[in-house]
Amino acid sequence: MTAQNTAVDLLRTLTGADPEGVWSAPGRVNLIGEHTDYNEGFVLPFAIPHRTYAAVSRRRDGRIRVASTFAETPVEAGIGELAALFPSHDGLRVPEWSAYPLGVAWALSAAANDASALPGLDIAIASDVPIGAGLSSSAAIEGATGAALNALWGLGLDAVALAQAGRKAENEAVGAPTGIMDQMSSMLGRADAATFLDCRTLRAESIPTGFAPAGLEVLVIDTRVEHAHATGGYRDRRAACERGAAIMGVPALRDLHPSDLPRAAELMDDATFRRVRHVVTEDQRVLDTVVALREHGPRAIGDLLIASHASMRDDFEISVPELDAAVDTALAAGAVGARMTGGGFGGAAIALVDRERVGAVSEAVGRAFADAGFAAPHTFTVTPAAGPRRDA
Ligand code: GLA
Repeated sequence: MTAQNTAVDLLRTLTGADPEGVWSAPGRVNLIGEHTDYNEGFVLPFAIPHRTYAAVSRRRDGRIRVASTFAETPVEAGIGELAALFPSHDGLRVPEWSAYPLGVAWALSAAANDASALPGLDIAIASDVPIGAGLSSSAAIEGATGAALNALWGLGLDAVALAQAGRKAENEAVGAPTGIMDQMSSMLGRADAATFLDCRTLRAESIPTGFAPAGLEVLVIDTRVEHAHATGGYRDRRAACERGAAIMGVPALRDLHPSDLPRAAELMDDATFRRVRHVVTEDQRVLDTVVALREHGPRAIGDLLIASHASMRDDFEISVPELDAAVDTALAAGAVGARMTGGGFGGAAIALVDRERVGAVSEAVGRAFADAGFAAPHTFTVTPAAGPRRDA
């Protein structure tokens, strides 16, 4: 059964009737530009064909009920009570999965003229974006919920405003200190194009990727090592970046140029310096990738992807042995370029591969994982895909 049908069935079970509508939004892979978004720098992600679906109906009262395939029991709250559910108010009072859609409802209710006049909602969510794989399953939930509420609450918000509501949900409802890349990527997805985003100004431009005409495929290697951004490493890296910017006297690391790095090396401890060096060189690699795509096409970006991975592995230290094995094996089997994608500490790698070598590269990675005693990876190809839409 498709995720769309699953969402519709779930809604019928909840309400006994068909939904008023179904909306969906995609996950993403990041082509390049990792941990640059919250440093106000540059990213180049694209939306993928895997989507999350929200089947939704309005209710007569002011209550919101969410159901999903992630849990057996639906979660319910009044629109006016939402603010009290989230961590800034003494810890999360609802199951974490429900804080994504409820957080979006909370963020969007603030955009309505009169929140007390908003109708309640029944929302059923199903997804075919792999969870915990670094493919932004959370941004897809936020995007599908945001698109549905924008329509059913008549808010008339644009893609950027919906992306900001998704990020607010993630930061303040779920409590994950993430940047804006995933939500913008999901919202602005276009077939065969990546989103070149300036995370300071939120100016975005679609850059044609040209994979298909070049005979290339993007292979996703999901290591199935699960990560979580609400805790641990992600937060530490973010803090190190803020420390580095403060030492250099700039508002954000975006304001540094590679030529500032020798001075940075003198002013800070080695670990902080390497975090800074990753971000500063990664911003430059995003800019270089955009130029390379425009002037020479996707075959010209392989070395930039490889350099990005090395920087995440050695300087930012967010890779894991499974991700390194995926990248190294893909390259040895003939990939044009490869890197881990997303926040790190697990999740997926991407490899840019000649169409006729996709099978050979997947098999080589599977063998390498088996030899190393790792769980079997999931491999599949993705093409840059469209953003949110109404499906029914
Ligand atoms: C996660 C976050 C993003 C971004 C990436 C790393 O996906 O949600 O905001 O910081 O990690 O590039």
